[in-house]
Amino acid sequence: MSIAPPPKTVLLTGGLGYIGSHTALALHEAGWRVVLLDNLANASRAVLGRLEAITGAPFPFYEADVRDRAAVEAVLKGEGVQAVVHFAGAKAVGESSADPLSYFDNNVGGAVALLQAMAAANVRQFVFSSSATVYGTPKYLPYDEAHPTAAINPYGRTKLHIEEILQDLAASDDRWRIAALRYFNPVGAHDSGLIGDDPNGIPNNLMPYVMRVAAGQLEVLSVFGTDYDTKDGTGVRDYIHVVDLAEGHVAALEALQPGRALGESPFEVVNLGSGVGHSVLELVKAFERASNRPVPWKAAPRRAGDLPEYFAEPSKAKALLKWEAKRSLEAMCASSWAFQSRQAEG
Ligand code: NAD
Ligand code: UFG
Repeated sequence: MSIAPPPKTVLLTGGLGYIGSHTALALHEAGWRVVLLDNLANASRAVLGRLEAITGAPFPFYEADVRDRAAVEAVLKGEGVQAVVHFAGAKAVGESSADPLSYFDNNVGGAVALLQAMAAANVRQFVFSSSATVYGTPKYLPYDEAHPTAAINPYGRTKLHIEEILQDLAASDDRWRIAALRYFNPVGAHDSGLIGDDPNGIPNNLMPYVMRVAAGQLEVLSVFGTDYDTKDGTGVRDYIHVVDLAEGHVAALEALQPGRALGESPFEVVNLGSGVGHSVLELVKAFERASNRPVPWKAAPRRAGDLPEYFAEPSKAKALLKWEAKRSLEAMCASSWAFQSRQAEG
């Protein structure tokens, strides 16, 4: 009789956040033992109970800050962690322009402290949450990973700086296996309706705003720019279902293992997008169909710093990770609405 090997253990920093919580479920389903760390700056402890309700399994959770090197090192050693997915960080573009130092401290300082703790604990498999924002103004579309990088705000610069740090680190010691995943626009929610994107206050991002307009909690959506040179004049983005994105992390972690595509390469950047661009008004119409509710909108001036259009060239992810986005815009809207409705029911 053969004995199955014990599950590998992965630490998710920022694991109670929007993308981290969905990835926790996907990794659990794929057979990983998942440990969560979060300082609760932008998440609620209630998410932990929801993960446990969905899976019926406990998730070890540490309330800690990634900048606390000693605390992180103790978790890595105490839990026997073999790989880390680093979601923890702040992500509001406007806030990053108003207070850049706090963004460099939390995002860049947090990544450096975490990597030091990992080296001390001899853990060298690392997946990083990067962003399509590192490409800046498109020189061509779709963005492939060879597109020049040029961040256009402090938030984007933190992502770019961290990618550069990771590249230097991988070059300094070939025991590291590092994947920087450049996400496009994650939206949608888990099928249970129990976890999703639930920002505090008035949402900055399109989908959470649309959800609250459909629910009657906000009156009208302002469409920022209706005169762009795009299919209908409104901004175009590559929306990716958060469950597809979560599965992309499972694929990346598996590809980092010895003998697999990324197992041979100390550092890779990979786009996680669908490859398809949708306009603001296409998303609004899809949401109206999925929710069977009107989403009133009005034309508003362009938002400072917005690009008219961008979307991913996703073929590197397909080749290296054997992963591609599968879920439709309709599924993104329907799952967002199911989450919104569950929240309203309390
Ligand atoms: P989120 O805010 O929901 O999750 C981030 C989590 O990290 C939160 O739970 C927060 O409490 C925690 N956190 C923040 N600083 C921390 C610290 N110093 N120590 C410990 N925990 C800390 O955001 P998200 O949308 O899930 O994003 C996850 C990652 O993906 C972020 O790094 C973000 O920059 C990146 N990203 C997000 C998007 C997007 O549109 N959502 C797009 C591209 C990249
Ligand atoms: N939009 C509106 N009205 C709103 C909110 C957004 O019309 O109330 C429009 C924007 O102008 C844009 C589109 O909807 O055309 C998407 O905007 P989001 O704010 O949802 O997303 P962004 O593309 O601006 O940025 C997001 C994240 C960034 C990340 C980037 C990665 O917020 O952190 O995706 O591609 F870097």
